[in-house]
Amino acid sequence: MARLNARHPWSHNDHFHRWILSNLPARRRKALDVGCGQGGLVAALAPLFDTVVGNDADPAMCDDTADRCADLANVTIAGGDWAHLDGPFDLVTMVAVLHHLDVDAALRDVRDLLAPGGRFLVVGLAPPRSVTDHLWDAASMVTNPLIGFAKHPRVSRVGPQPPSYPVQDPVMAYDDLRRRTEAVMPGARMRHRVGFRHTIAWTKPA
Ligand SMILES: C[S@@+](CC[C@H](N)C(=O)[O-])C[C@H]1O[C@@H](n2cnc3c(N)ncnc32)[C@H](O)[C@@H]1O
Repeated sequence: MARLNARHPWSHNDHFHRWILSNLPARRRKALDVGCGQGGLVAALAPLFDTVVGNDADPAMCDDTADRCADLANVTIAGGDWAHLDGPFDLVTMVAVLHHLDVDAALRDVRDLLAPGGRFLVVGLAPPRSVTDHLWDAASMVTNPLIGFAKHPRVSRVGPQPPSYPVQDPVMAYDDLRRRTEAVMPGARMRHRVGFRHTIAWTKPA
C-alpha cells in the first residue's frame, strides 16, 4: 500500500478539505484549525471567514503555516494551548489531530470554545476493531489506489516520503470515540469514510 501510494501520491487529509468547506456554519466570523500542520486548511478557510486562527503544538508547523499564509491579513498563528484561545469560534476544525489529544478534555474544550450555532468538524483516524471498521478499511484499500490514480495519474519517481508533520498512531477505536463524542456533544454525526478516515460533525445548540 505504501509503495502504491508513493507511485500515485495523494494527501488523505487534504482530500477532506472539500467536505469541511461544504459543511461550514452559516455565521463565519472566527474559525480555529487545531493542529494546522503546514496550513493548507487555514489558507482554504481564510477567504470564507472574517478571522482564521491556525494553532499547532509544533513551532515548525506554526512557522510553515505563517509562511504559507503570509499574504492573508485575516490569519493569525497561535502556538501552544489552543483551549485557552480567545473565543468564541464559529468553526473549530481538527484534521488528523484528535487522536493526538486527550479526547474527553478536547471535546469539552471545543464545546466551550464554540459560539452557539458554531460547528465542530473532525477528520479522524481510528484503529480497526469492529467488523464494520474492517469492512471500511477493506473499501479504503480498494479505493486508495483508484483515488491516487485519479488525483496523480503520472507515476511519481520520488518514492515513499516521510510525513511532513508530526504523526502519532491512533489507539482509540471508532465505537469508543463515538460514545465519548455523543456524551459531550449529543447529536454529533460520525461517519466512516474511505481513505482510512472518519468524520465527525457537531453544531452547538443555539
Ligand atoms: C497528522 S498532523 C495533521 C496536520 C494537519 N491538520 C493536516 O491535515 O495536514 C497532526 C498535527 O497535530 C499537531 N498537534 C499534536 N498535538 C497537538 C496539540 N496538543 N495541540 C495542537 N496541535 C497538536 C501536530 O504538531 C501535527 O502538526
